[in-house]
Amino acid sequence: MAKGNRIRSFIGISLWLAAAPAMAAWTHLGPATQVEHTPAASTFRCPDAIVRLEAIGEHVLRVRMTPGNAFGRDFSWALTGDTPRGTLKRLEGHAQEDGETLSTGALTARVHTRPLRIDILDADGRTLLHDEPERGMGWRRVNDECIAVRVWQEMPDGVRIYGLGEKAGPLNHAGRALSMWNTDAWGYGPTTDPLYKSIPFFIMEHNGRYHGVFFDNPWRTSFDFGGQDRNVMSFGAEGGELDYYVIAGPGPKDVLRRYTDLTGRLELPPKWALGYHQCRYSYYPEARVREIAETFRAKSIPCDVLYFDIDYMDGYRSFTWNPHWFPNPRKLTDDLKAMRFHTVAIIDPGIKREPGDPVYDSGTAINAWLRRPDGRPYVGRVWPGECVFPDFTNPAVRDWWSALFPPFLEACGVDGIWNDMNEPANFAGPNKTLPLDIRFDNEGESKSHRACHNVYGQQMARATLEGIRRARPDHRPFTMTRATYAGGQRYGAAWTGDNISSWEHLQLSLTMTMQLGVSGMPFVGPDIGGFGGSATPELYARWIQAGSLLPYARTHTASGTPDQEPWSYGPDVEAIARDSLRRRYELMPYLYTLFEECSRTGVPIVRPIWMEFPGEHPWFEDTAFMLGSAILVWPIVRAGEQEQHISLPPGVWFDWHTGEIHAGGQPVLVPAGLDHLPLFVRAGSIVPMQSAVESTMETPAEPLVLDVWPFGHAEGSLYEDDGESLAYRQGRFCRSQFTCEAAEDEMTLALPACTQTAGQGAPLIRLHGLGRPVNSVKVRRDSSEITGQPSSPAEDGILSSPGAFRFDPASGVWLIRAAPRDHQQTVRVRLGPDENANREAVRLRFDEEKRPIPYHRGVLPPVYSQGGVEVAVRRAGNPQLLLPRMRLSAEALPVLKVRLATEHATSLGVRFATRQEPTLSDRPAMKFAIRPDGRVHEYSFDLRQASDGRWSGTVYWVMLSFPDNNRQGERIRVETVAFEPAAGP
Ligand code: GLC
Repeated sequence: MAKGNRIRSFIGISLWLAAAPAMAAWTHLGPATQVEHTPAASTFRCPDAIVRLEAIGEHVLRVRMTPGNAFGRDFSWALTGDTPRGTLKRLEGHAQEDGETLSTGALTARVHTRPLRIDILDADGRTLLHDEPERGMGWRRVNDECIAVRVWQEMPDGVRIYGLGEKAGPLNHAGRALSMWNTDAWGYGPTTDPLYKSIPFFIMEHNGRYHGVFFDNPWRTSFDFGGQDRNVMSFGAEGGELDYYVIAGPGPKDVLRRYTDLTGRLELPPKWALGYHQCRYSYYPEARVREIAETFRAKSIPCDVLYFDIDYMDGYRSFTWNPHWFPNPRKLTDDLKAMRFHTVAIIDPGIKREPGDPVYDSGTAINAWLRRPDGRPYVGRVWPGECVFPDFTNPAVRDWWSALFPPFLEACGVDGIWNDMNEPANFAGPNKTLPLDIRFDNEGESKSHRACHNVYGQQMARATLEGIRRARPDHRPFTMTRATYAGGQRYGAAWTGDNISSWEHLQLSLTMTMQLGVSGMPFVGPDIGGFGGSATPELYARWIQAGSLLPYARTHTASGTPDQEPWSYGPDVEAIARDSLRRRYELMPYLYTLFEECSRTGVPIVRPIWMEFPGEHPWFEDTAFMLGSAILVWPIVRAGEQEQHISLPPGVWFDWHTGEIHAGGQPVLVPAGLDHLPLFVRAGSIVPMQSAVESTMETPAEPLVLDVWPFGHAEGSLYEDDGESLAYRQGRFCRSQFTCEAAEDEMTLALPACTQTAGQGAPLIRLHGLGRPVNSVKVRRDSSEITGQPSSPAEDGILSSPGAFRFDPASGVWLIRAAPRDHQQTVRVRLGPDENANREAVRLRFDEEKRPIPYHRGVLPPVYSQGGVEVAVRRAGNPQLLLPRMRLSAEALPVLKVRLATEHATSLGVRFATRQEPTLSDRPAMKFAIRPDGRVHEYSFDLRQASDGRWSGTVYWVMLSFPDNNRQGERIRVETVAFEPAAGP
């Protein structure tokens, strides 16, 4: 045993012994006295507990601890059931006197046995989790039924924690203590906890590397991430086993893929569910529903789904319709379908206690209700008055429940079901729920409410989903729930409950959507505009701008609040809402592709920025997000904003609205008046779009528009199928990967064929931010090549023949018609000279306001004085200064003239990026000798020559670096930088 380990375990034992009396309430694991190994697991027996480590595939390690001498039933509400087996190898080389080293492949557990403490390391030997020597795992009896379990681990400074499902407050949970107990949390705030959902899974980030921990325990659980003691984290439950899965990264997407390997993924929803949803508590009578539908169509505001909240019911009885307000629901939903609307109805779990009611009677006949300890059904109170509650943890009850749907759906024709009040909520109960001693079947092993509370909503959604499937086996179902548990993503969508019309809630709605996505639950969104209270026009405008780009996009409001439809806030806000929703529908091919990707990988549709740029965070607002990996959305979440400072992530970015190009890793100031949502596209993306429609049931005039944001190599993917049936499972879909390669004067797009889906037509290509004219287009399919014809800008008709192209002056975009997609094709675009590039000498002068250094590395912030810029080197290395963006014709201006002074650097490196070769950092620097005497000298370099002709084309960025002999504290002064024509003839 290494000396360090021996000392540590000695300290561990002494601390354990010393600490035991002080913490009388908890018992901590003592020494392991026996170890048993099987190929996949190792079991350690301690005097009054057992611990098992199990390899779940190569990348997941399960840790299980229970007091006593036997584990309970190995059962989970979260796991899919096809958990992979792994091999837990004993690493002989690392064997320790006081323990074992075990490995799943990607994860290693060092188990110290006296007392039993575990460290978990990744493949590179970095510690991911480290049991606190003093406490490690422990337990304490709470009452006759429950023994609480918990683990304490060390938490190094700088660790960030994300996930845990529906949590308000900041994205990073470090420093907070949080818990899980599904709660009807009307009007919650940033510090309200717990909320409606329990997803005890979190992702930890340390130094840009990520791993996950899933604590699979549905009891009331709690988590403390350094809230009590800055360097200690702990998690535990009030009952059940300490049963957690450590999930290897190193990237956040790796963690999510593996977590959703275990707990399942969202099934591909019907496409209509990705449209815009309009709800209120409640639209009734029927005439009001029709009026809403007609107004959407009359005003050409896109909308796919209308909702029936509880007032559609007869006395709030689930599965009934109020005959007075809705005399013929089937006719209504059919008429709405003809107007291209789908419909969703709410179904609550509280069933009115009313003999004679068919649902009550049939449930009573099979003993469907949750029971009191004396065996009688528990009676609570919800909307209908006195209610009983189905026991969804009983498979027979789920079966009975799902059988209620085929006749109901057939009779009324609604398409989707929304499950609410399923925490379960109870107006009569303690803490707005059922008493804790209520009995549940718990899938055949009867337990109290304590053990099953957190899965009630999840199991209700499961039974509802099954019901819709039974009714319409060939269609993709849509369900939505308020409460759920880990793995609930398998049963559909969810929303973030009863929020409030306030700016703070707009902010929360964005972080909560992201947090749920990080927790494996991707199809989520808030009540846009806020549920309680009333929004100002400005707030609604900002909310629909941002909310229309969330996975689930629904406006909803409480009863008694003012109207909250997109047109309720006057013509200006109506126009903003229309534009925002049109953008959602234009993005439908991209959005649908993201959903399909998510259904295979678990990577959410809406992502915190660090998920795309691991390790990047300090610059960003929590509310900014990535829609897929191409689009950066920067919602405006405060009143009165006219412009916005945005910290662009690394890379190169296009402004969605103007096509202007920006170097990433720097702040930019953009306009943000009320009608303007800051949006950026990652350079090198191809975003599949379509023309706007008012409903996904419409065929767009342009079914496929490929928006190319070129910068060197660009790519994008597209998933297509019929959008509603299950035929995709039989291979009836197309997944296409589009690419665009830009050379000096030419761009080549490759479009694969897609023959599976109907109505393909020929895509329209839109080339953004070119800055140069398109001279000619050639489309090649198989062996034939078509030469495209230019059409005049005045002709605003659709470009009809393959290869036809024109400039659209309104958007500054070049449009090109591709050929139909029944064959693969390449589109070759020849570009003319850049008329706008600087051809006459350019001389940069630096002043803070107009020509600041946009990006610098390794130096203290630049100081601008007398037209020059001065920096002090922060650390020895390779200090860099990126010059302001310029469009230069390299051919015309090959000579760089600089005046600068350095104290130690003996060389100056110059790198440049052209539109065709975007990444400055990939280019080797041209090196030029300079004089390290601290005095200003003027130098002149021929870039063309020095770069062997690669200094060519239109140049956007030039970076100066000082790689040699620079010292910390060294001062560098750059005065003029000029690009000039070649000297002499
Ligand atoms: C709950 C739901 C809300 C719904 C209302 C009436 O408050 O969270 O969305 O409108 O009940 O059904």
